[in-house]
Amino acid sequence: MEKLVIEGGKPLSGAVRIHGAKNAALPILAACIMAEGEITIENVPDLSDIDVMLDILKALGCRTERRGEQIIVDALKVCEHHIPEHLMSQMRSSIFLMGPLLARLGRVELYQPGGCAIGERKIDLHLRGLAALGAVIEESGSKIVCTAEELTGAEIALDYPSVGATENIMMAAVMAKGRTIIAGAAREPEIQDLQHFLNRMGARIIGAGTDTITIDGVPELMPCSYRIIPDRIVAGTLMIAAAATKGNITLENVCPAHLTSAIHVLKRAGVQIAIDDDIMNISSHARPKPVERIVTAPHPSFPTDLQSQIMVLLSLADGVSIIKETVFEGRFKHVDELTRMGADIRIDLSSAFIRGVPRLYGATVEATDLRAGAALVIAGLAAQGTTVVEQVHHIDRGYARIEQMLRHLGANIVRTSPVTTE
Ligand code: EPZ
Repeated sequence: MEKLVIEGGKPLSGAVRIHGAKNAALPILAACIMAEGEITIENVPDLSDIDVMLDILKALGCRTERRGEQIIVDALKVCEHHIPEHLMSQMRSSIFLMGPLLARLGRVELYQPGGCAIGERKIDLHLRGLAALGAVIEESGSKIVCTAEELTGAEIALDYPSVGATENIMMAAVMAKGRTIIAGAAREPEIQDLQHFLNRMGARIIGAGTDTITIDGVPELMPCSYRIIPDRIVAGTLMIAAAATKGNITLENVCPAHLTSAIHVLKRAGVQIAIDDDIMNISSHARPKPVERIVTAPHPSFPTDLQSQIMVLLSLADGVSIIKETVFEGRFKHVDELTRMGADIRIDLSSAFIRGVPRLYGATVEATDLRAGAALVIAGLAAQGTTVVEQVHHIDRGYARIEQMLRHLGANIVRTSPVTTE
C-alpha cells in the first residue's frame, strides 16, 4: 500500500491554489442525470471519490469525460436505475443518486451505504424525506428499492440538519408537482452551490444557506455549465498546517465566508490571518494559544471535518483545550495515533481534553478516515523526526495529490509505493 513519508520541522511557506469542493461536486454530479443532454462542470477536483461517482454515472448509462478539472456528463441515455453494490460500498455518497434517479426514472435500487470509521451514518432522514414526496420505499436486508409513480411537493421537517438528506430531498423535489418546503435544512455552503447549479438548470429553489428551503417543481431541467466552489475543508486543513509548522502561506481561490468559524478559532489560537477577497494569508511565529472550548456542529458552527486537524494544532498549545464532537460519534479515531506521536489527549464521551506538549515526535501511524489522515499528515509536518502515514487511500478521497500540494509549500514529504520509491 502507498505511504506518505514526512520529515517534520519545516515551516510551510509559499502560495497554493485551493481546488474545487468534493462535497459540492458529488451531489452536483449526481444531479446531472436529471437533464437530458451534455453538462459541463468546471473546477472538479481530481479525487478518488469523484472517480467512483463517474463510474456510477457511467453504470447508469451516462457518457462522462474528464478534461483536467473540467468534467462533461451527457445524461441523454440514463436508463439504469440499479446502483451497483460494489460501487455503493466504495463510497457512501452514492446515496446522492436516490433523489435524481427517482426524479428521472421514478425508480432506484441501491444498498444501505453502511457505516464507516467515523460513525453509523444512518440514512433514515433521506428515506423519510423521499417518502414524504410520494416515494414507496421497500427494504429487504441491505437492499433498498424506491419507486414513485409521481413525486408531489410536501412540507418536510428534518429533525437533524443532515447535509445529505437536505441535498437528496432538494434534488427529488425539483421536478415534483407543486411546492416542497424543507424546514430544519442544513445550511452548508455546498448546499447553496447545489441550489445555484439546479437553478442554472431551470429549477426554482430559494433559501439554501438558511434552515428553510423552498422548491417549486418544474416540468424539466436543461443542461448547463457550472463551476464548483472552492473546497473550504482543504483550505482549512492547509491553514491549520501552516499554523502547526509556524509557517507563512497564501491560499488562492478560497471563499473566506465559508470558513468564518475556523478563522475565528485560529485567531483565538494566536494565528495571524489576512484576507483580501479570495486570497488568504496565514502566518504564525509562536506556539499556539490553547482554545478553551470548541464544539463541532452543523454550519455555520465549527465544522466536524476540521476537528481532527485543529486537535493537532492544539496538542502543541501552551495549555489545555477542549473539543466537543457533536456530529459523528466515532470521530476520535486519530487520537490514539496522535498519542503515539507524543500528544497528551484524554477522551471523555464526546469531548477531547488536549494538554499541549512541547513537541510531537515522528512515528509510523495509520489513517482511519479522510480527515483523520489529513490530521496525521499535519502532525508529521510539525513533529520532530520522520513520520510514515499508512492507508493514504483515505486521504486521496478528499485531497488531490496532498504531497504535491505540501511539497509546493516547502514540506519534506514523499509518497512511496511498494513498487517504486520516489
Ligand atoms: C456530509 O456528510 C459530508 N459529506 C461529510 O464530509 C460531513 O462531515 C457531513 O456532511 C457533516 O458536515 C459529503 O457532503 C459528501 P450528515 P453527510 O447527513 O451528508 C446523522 C468528509 O470528510 N444522520 O449531515 O453524511 C449522521 O449519522 C465527509 O468530507 C442521520 O442520523 O452528513 C451523522 O451523525 C465526512 N440520519 C449526522 O447526522 C440521516 O438520514 C450528520 O450527517 C442522515 C444523517
